[in-house]
Amino acid sequence: MTAASAKSCVDDDAPKGLIDARNVGVIFGGNGGDVVAVQDVSIHVQPGEFVSLIGPSGCGKSTLLSIVAGFVRPTRGVATLDGKPITRPGSDRGVVFQQYSLFPWLTVRKNVEFGLKMAGADIDKRDTTARSLLDLAGLQAFENHYPDQLSGGMKQRIGIVRALAASPQVLLMDEPFGALDSQTRVVMQEILTNIWQQFGISVLFVTHDIEESIFLSDRIYVMTARPGRVKAEIDVPLPRPRTAEMTDMPEFISLVHELKGLIREESLAAMGPELKHRSLAGFGMKVGPKTVRELF
Ligand SMILES: Nc1ncnc2c1ncn2[C@@H]1O[C@H](COP(=O)(O)OP(=O)(O)O)[C@@H](O)[C@H]1O
Ligand SMILES: [Mg+2]
Repeated sequence: MTAASAKSCVDDDAPKGLIDARNVGVIFGGNGGDVVAVQDVSIHVQPGEFVSLIGPSGCGKSTLLSIVAGFVRPTRGVATLDGKPITRPGSDRGVVFQQYSLFPWLTVRKNVEFGLKMAGADIDKRDTTARSLLDLAGLQAFENHYPDQLSGGMKQRIGIVRALAASPQVLLMDEPFGALDSQTRVVMQEILTNIWQQFGISVLFVTHDIEESIFLSDRIYVMTARPGRVKAEIDVPLPRPRTAEMTDMPEFISLVHELKGLIREESLAAMGPELKHRSLAGFGMKVGPKTVRELF
């Protein structure tokens, strides 16, 4: 039975991975005063859809993802998964962060099995699931290694596999490839799209990398500088499976230009009104007149 036909046998009330955040706002209180991190944001991810959140640093991307993960409660609005309000973390949502967050004292396989153990899976189930997932990610030969013996790309593949082990409906990823070199990053993006297609789960992916968001996504939300709001929603009409060659296609390049324009405005806004030509020059930056004119 294929994954698609297996899914079609499932009854209508079964979880599907529909994320819906409505008019969500988050205010963090602190000694320095309140910070409005996110303001009146509505986003959704359809079951099986791959959606990215992109925007300048500090615009509230991680905060939004944390709401869906159940780590942060919104001050306003509501976020739901398959119609149920999200109030806490759960095994229906796998989370992958930029930091590898593997247990260094456990082997690769034990790391992958950990979530299954917590969920009460028996030893046979844990063993079979961990082995088949590690195989899928090309890591079976490393199952008895410890995280410190592996490269960054391998560690992050384990992080993804571990998040998938509990069969979540949703994968939430916060700049998962941000610490990797650019070559490894490209390979990881291809691996991720392959895994995602096989599992058919919904993905909400945070990044500040424009090419990455286009390569991976069905749809992209561009956020404004803080307080984060949705500035634009962009469809990515590129065929699947995505391949590295697609980054040379005119459609890809024109999306890069469109997103660059949108994000540059917000990055400048995020740097604050004090950013003037003089201040750029003051930092000893070589800024040609054309570039400066473009900026302001
Ligand atoms: N726990 C927190 N307490 C106080 N302020 C926070 C907290 N988490 C995030 N912030 C602030 O909220 C804003 C958005 O942060 P974040 O969601 O991490 O942005 P991004 O992921 O887009 O870089 C930032 O100004 C950040 O300093
Ligand atoms: Mg962040």
